[in-house]
Amino acid sequence: MTQAKVFITRRLPTQLHRLEEVANVEVWSEPQPPPYQVLLEKVQEVDGLLCLLTDQIDQQLIQVGKSLKVISQMAVGFDNIDIPTATARRIPVGNTPGVLTDATADLTWALLMAAARRVVEADRFVRSHLWQTWEPDLLLGPDIAGATLGIVGFGRIGQAVARRAKGFDMRIIYTSKHRCNSELEQNLGVEFADFASLLQVSDFVTIHTPLSAETDHLFGEAEFVLMKQSAILINTARGAIVDPDALYQALRTGEIAGAAIDVTEPEPIPTDSPLLSLDNLIITPHIGSASRPTREKMANMAIDNLIAGLKGERLPYCVNS
Ligand code: DGY
Repeated sequence: MTQAKVFITRRLPTQLHRLEEVANVEVWSEPQPPPYQVLLEKVQEVDGLLCLLTDQIDQQLIQVGKSLKVISQMAVGFDNIDIPTATARRIPVGNTPGVLTDATADLTWALLMAAARRVVEADRFVRSHLWQTWEPDLLLGPDIAGATLGIVGFGRIGQAVARRAKGFDMRIIYTSKHRCNSELEQNLGVEFADFASLLQVSDFVTIHTPLSAETDHLFGEAEFVLMKQSAILINTARGAIVDPDALYQALRTGEIAGAAIDVTEPEPIPTDSPLLSLDNLIITPHIGSASRPTREKMANMAIDNLIAGLKGERLPYCVNS
């Protein structure tokens, strides 16, 4: 029997022995993702594809992968993959939910606190040799304790952010397609609100919804107008949920006070983006899940999904069945 072939689109932070026992493995070892043309060629030769959110797994690519039995994504989000086409071809698509919840919630809080207390600006201030004395009004920001936190999207990560917020004595409101049961709301100490009301009353708004046709540019000019002028926006979900031009205008004109984003549209952010000129914006390079143990767990889950798919078994974490 010929051995299955798999292509992995980047070096993974884990051992591949388990996979090598069942498949002939090729790993793209460049630091940059494989160009689309390379992916198109590779996918024609393989039974399994292990990909990242930087790979565009579209209709054309899935259709040319005639022997493709499984697509395994090392991420919880899968907006880069054409799921309907994979499903129509009966190709299971795996993802890695759960293991990155805490790491992403932690980074959300790191960004929220850094933006509120102007940590990045303060660091730049000191390194620019501007620190002359203690000043009563130097680098002031809002309080976090007692403030209202608005959580947009209330899945695993949104809930983990809420759990952390409890320790800060915040009022926590959330909006979501589906309202949670009252027991969970009570346990987490959260209140449900519609999107517009949440925007109007929140001091901090944090985004935890997947990117879809519905959430693409969910935050635009009208939403920033609804938000408090003192509000701070945090995005650790997907860049395209926020219209970057509207965000720039809102931050520049003081429609909102600040933002901290781990994700941008596009990624990486273009070096000439006007957003990079703003002091009231913090940007990190999509590192929500970037703790060593988390990345290792994500890689192992992606391998588990891949192996199951190669064997024709149900994927432990499958998004299209
Ligand atoms: C995901 O998993 O979708 C994150 O954005 C990357 O860790």
